[in-house]
Amino acid sequence: MNDMTPTSAERAEKLEGMGCKRKRVEDIRFVQGKGNYVDDLKIPGMLYGDIVRSPHGHARIKKIDTAKAAAVPGVVAVLTADVLKTVNLAWMPTLAGDMQMVLADGKVLYQNQEVAFVVAESREAAADGVELVEVEYEQLPVNVDPMKAMTDGAPTIREDLKDKTDGAHGKRKHYNHIFSWAAGDKAATDAAFAKADVTIKEFIVYPRVHPCPLETCQCVASFDKIKGELTLWGTFQAPHVIRTVGSLISKIPEHKIHVIAPDIGGGFGNKVGAYSGYICAIVASIVTGRPVKWVEDRIENLSTTAFARDFHMEMEIAATKDGKVTAMRCYTIADHGAFDACANATKWPAGLFSIVSGSYDFPAAYCLVDGVYTNKAPGGVAYRCSFRVTEAAYCIERAMDIMAQKLGMDPAEFRLKNLIRREQFPYTSAFGWQYDSGDYHTAMNKAMESVNYKKLREEQKQKRDAFKRGETRELMGIGVAFFTEIVGAGPSRACDILGIAMFDSAEIRIHPTGTGICRLGTKSQGQGHETTYAQIIATELGLPADNIMVEEGNTDTAPYGLGTYGSRSTPVSGAATAMACRKIKAKAQMIAAYMLEVHDDDLEWDVDRFRVKGNPERFKTMTELAWAAYHEVPPGMEPGLEAINYYDPPNFTFPYGAYICVVDIDVDTGTTKVRRFYALDDCGTRINPMIIEGQIHGGLTEAFGIAMGQEIHYDDDGNVTTASFMDYFLPTAVETPHWETDWTTTPSPHHPIGAKGVGESPNVGGVPCFSNAVNDAFTFLGSTHIQMPHDHWRTWTAAEKLGLHG
Ligand code: CDP
Repeated sequence: MNDMTPTSAERAEKLEGMGCKRKRVEDIRFVQGKGNYVDDLKIPGMLYGDIVRSPHGHARIKKIDTAKAAAVPGVVAVLTADVLKTVNLAWMPTLAGDMQMVLADGKVLYQNQEVAFVVAESREAAADGVELVEVEYEQLPVNVDPMKAMTDGAPTIREDLKDKTDGAHGKRKHYNHIFSWAAGDKAATDAAFAKADVTIKEFIVYPRVHPCPLETCQCVASFDKIKGELTLWGTFQAPHVIRTVGSLISKIPEHKIHVIAPDIGGGFGNKVGAYSGYICAIVASIVTGRPVKWVEDRIENLSTTAFARDFHMEMEIAATKDGKVTAMRCYTIADHGAFDACANATKWPAGLFSIVSGSYDFPAAYCLVDGVYTNKAPGGVAYRCSFRVTEAAYCIERAMDIMAQKLGMDPAEFRLKNLIRREQFPYTSAFGWQYDSGDYHTAMNKAMESVNYKKLREEQKQKRDAFKRGETRELMGIGVAFFTEIVGAGPSRACDILGIAMFDSAEIRIHPTGTGICRLGTKSQGQGHETTYAQIIATELGLPADNIMVEEGNTDTAPYGLGTYGSRSTPVSGAATAMACRKIKAKAQMIAAYMLEVHDDDLEWDVDRFRVKGNPERFKTMTELAWAAYHEVPPGMEPGLEAINYYDPPNFTFPYGAYICVVDIDVDTGTTKVRRFYALDDCGTRINPMIIEGQIHGGLTEAFGIAMGQEIHYDDDGNVTTASFMDYFLPTAVETPHWETDWTTTPSPHHPIGAKGVGESPNVGGVPCFSNAVNDAFTFLGSTHIQMPHDHWRTWTAAEKLGLHG
C-alpha cells in the first residue's frame, strides 16, 4: 500500500453509506417541478369523475333523479348505488372487517357522504353534472357525540347492523357499538388502586383531526376489455394491499390488476385504505371502456377520507405518596364514525393503544376501549403514528403531569423516578409488550441539561410571582414529555391485514458493472426512501449509494409488501434490504474465494472488498465480484448476483424521545408563543442524520398543528365546520416555531442493522409536549387539564374560567 492508497475509512466515506448526510436524490426532480404525481397523468380518451355528496349528517334518501345530470353536454355516465348493485359493488369491505357503502344505499350517515358519481369528458362537465343530480332527502336525528352513542334512544346509525349481536371483534353492547377491546390485568390493577396512597382521574380527549396531505386522494383507473386487465394509478401507501383488496372486491384476478403508485405528495395514514372514489373510477372505466380519473378536492379530503384520533379517554394513575407509580387504568370511547374503516392490524381494533403505560415501570395496568358509530366520516387511521400510539402517548403524558401536580413534584423529576431503567431492557410492560432497548435516563438527563431545565423552572417561578403581584399578564409554561413508540408492524404472529401477514420485502439485483436496483414492498410519500435504502446497501455491499437505484410502488415489479405507514419501512423493509444484501455478499464471498484460490473462511470483509486474512494486498472488490458473477462463477454455481428477502420481524422496534417545550401565554388574548422546542430522539442506528432531522422537523410541525389548533369539528346537526384550510389550522412557515433537535443512539438488538423507525416519533412526542407546556402555565392557579387544541380562543377561555380576566 502506498501513501496514495485510500484508507478503509476514506473508502467507506466515498460510499455514502449509513451515517452519511447524503443529499436526497429524489429532490433533483422535486425541486425542478418534475415529480410525477397521479394528477400529472394524462391518457388519451380519459374521462373525469366527480362525486355528488350529502348535505345532511343523517337522512333517508327518498329518490335520486339523474336525468338532468345525464343530459349535460359531456356527461357520459352517472353511477348510483342502484347501478353499483348490478355489479355487486354497492358496498365494500373495510380493512376493519365492516362493510361500507360505496355510494349511499337507502340513507346517508354523515355529511358529504358519497351519493352519486358523475363521469364526463372534462372536470368542468362532471362538476356541472354533480350540480344537477336531484336527491330527495328526509332528515333523521343526528348524533355526533360518541359519549351519547350508546345511550337509550340514540339515533340508530347502522340500520343494516341493528339486529346483529356480534361484530368483527365479538359481542356488541348496543346498536351503535362496534367492538370492545381490553388489555392488561384488571384484577391486579383494581387491587393496586384499592391500596394506593394517591390516585388521579382525568377525562382526556384527543380530538378528531385529519392527516391532510397536500396532495389529496386520487386515482386513474383504466380497464382493458380485450385483455380483461385493470391498471390503477393512485396515491397509495400500500399498493399491494390495494391490488389484493381490489381483486377480492371486484373479482378481477389479482394478476390482471396492475397497481402503480407514482410520486406521492404526503400520506400520513390518509392513503392506506380504499375509498369510494377508487371503486367508482374502476366501475366507470369498466362501464365506459375508457380511463377515468378521480381527484378529491380539499373539502372532500378533510371531510370524507380517513380522519384520525377521536379518542375519549378516562385515565387514572395510582402512586405511592413518594411518587412511585403503582398502576394505571384507562377507559376509552373511540369514535369510528359511520363505518368501521379503521386501518389497523386485524386483531387490534384499538390499534397499539396498549402502549399507553408509556415509558414508565407500571407494575399493573388495564385498558378497555369501546368503539362506537356516530354520524361522522369513517376512518381512524394512524396519522403519522403507529396505530393509536399517539393517542396513548398523549393520554399517559398528560396523566403523568397531572399526577406530578397532585404529588407536588416536578414533572421531570416524577418521570425520572418512574422511567424504565436501562438494566430492565428488554423490558416486558404490564400490557405484555417487550420493549427492545432503551436508555431513558440518559436521554431525559441530556434533554434537561441541554435546555438548562433548572434555570427555566427558576425563571418560571419568578414570572409566577410577578404575575401574582400583578406586574405581568404573561404566563410561562414548560412542557416535558417522554414517549416510547412501538413501530415496525409487524411480527406476523401479532399483525395481519385481512389475513395477510405483515412482513415486508426487498429484492436487489446487482448488475455486472457493480451498479444495481433495489425494489421494495414499501412506498415513500416524501420520506426519502430512494436515498436511504441505497445507503443501507452501500454499507452492506460496499458499493457507492449513487450506484443503486431504488424503486417502489409498482405491483408488477416490486416484491409483495404491506406498504409504508406507522414508521414500518426502516424496521421491516430496511431489515429486508440488509438481509438481501447479506445473501448477495455470501455469494460474492464464494466467488472471491474461487478467484483468489483460497477457502471462503480465509477471507475477511473490508468496507468494499473481500481480502485474504493476513495478506490485505490480495483482494477482490465488490465491483470486480459483480463482474465475475456474470462470467467467472465457481463450477456448479448459478451465475448472477441478486437476492430477495421477505422479512418477518421478530418484534416491533421501540424508538423513544425526550422533548421539552417552553411557551409564553398572554392571558388577556390567549396568544401562545412557542419560545423553545427541544426534541431528543433515539431511533437506534441512524441511517441518514439529515433525513432524520427533516422527518423530525416535519413531524413536530404536524404536532404543533394538532396541539395548537387542529380539529375536525361537527355541529349538533352533523355539519363539518372545519373542512377547509380557512377553518382547519395547517401551520405554515410563519407560525411554525424553531426546532432544536438532538439524539442518543441505542440500537435495536433484534434488527439486522440496529435501526428503529423515526418518522412518527415527533408527532407522538410533540403533541403531549405542547399540551403539557400550555397546561403547565396554569397549574399554579389550580388548573389540572385544559383540552386540546390549544388555540388562542380556547386558551383565553381557560384563563377566563380561572377568573383571570377580572
Ligand atoms: O415508514 P416510514 O418511511 O414513514 O418511516 P421510517 O422507517 O421511520 O423512515 C423515515 C425516513 O427516515 C426514511 O428515509 C428512513 O430511511 C429514515 N431513517 C433513518 O435514516 N434512520 C433511522 N434509524 C430510521 C429512519
